[in-house]
Amino acid sequence: MAAPMSPPQRIILTGFMGAGKSAVGLHLAQTLGRPFVDLDDEIVRAEGKSVAEIFDSVGETQFREIEHRALRKALLQDRMVLALGGGTLELEGNREVLFADPENVVIYLKAPLEVLIHRCEEQRRQQSDTPRRPVLENRSELTGRFLRRKLLYESAHWTISTENCEAHEVARKIADRWKQGTAPSKHAEVKGRA
Ligand code: S3P
Repeated sequence: MAAPMSPPQRIILTGFMGAGKSAVGLHLAQTLGRPFVDLDDEIVRAEGKSVAEIFDSVGETQFREIEHRALRKALLQDRMVLALGGGTLELEGNREVLFADPENVVIYLKAPLEVLIHRCEEQRRQQSDTPRRPVLENRSELTGRFLRRKLLYESAHWTISTENCEAHEVARKIADRWKQGTAPSKHAEVKGRA
């Protein structure tokens, strides 16, 4: 008799800054009774510095290496919800570890760039302790980055539109779909990306 299919172990949220990865991830983890891991928080804990301090002191290329190490470590944990950073998919090595493992389901939280920028600005205005986002500060490169990354985000297993939705509503949409058993099973059809 064939072994019963079990749902993949890790739910991984991707999308640009302001997509709501951390807020949605927290709600989703609570709803599904899973641990929540935020990759940026893991980096901050491991390095003892804020993301902005890392960018300021060693630059983006080094930050990406640190992020890669943090990702590999985070993926050692099963049954969790993981929020990536907005740029995590930029590194080919990150895409490889994320998409090669059928236990990972990657979900793209999608919204137009102007909505994302507005959300980030509102967040910073309303919560003074919101961490600085060095990539957001570089406005001249932002549209280019967004367009380049969009193609990478679109290789996720699921895409969920987050426009006009609160984080808890997005989490609810994902959880409902998950519980309906439409979670991709340990699939052969995981799209390859490089
Ligand atoms: C980044 C996004 C940030 C953080 C870092 C770089 C990016 O995460 O990882 O500032 O390159 O888009 P959020 O998407 O959670 O803001």
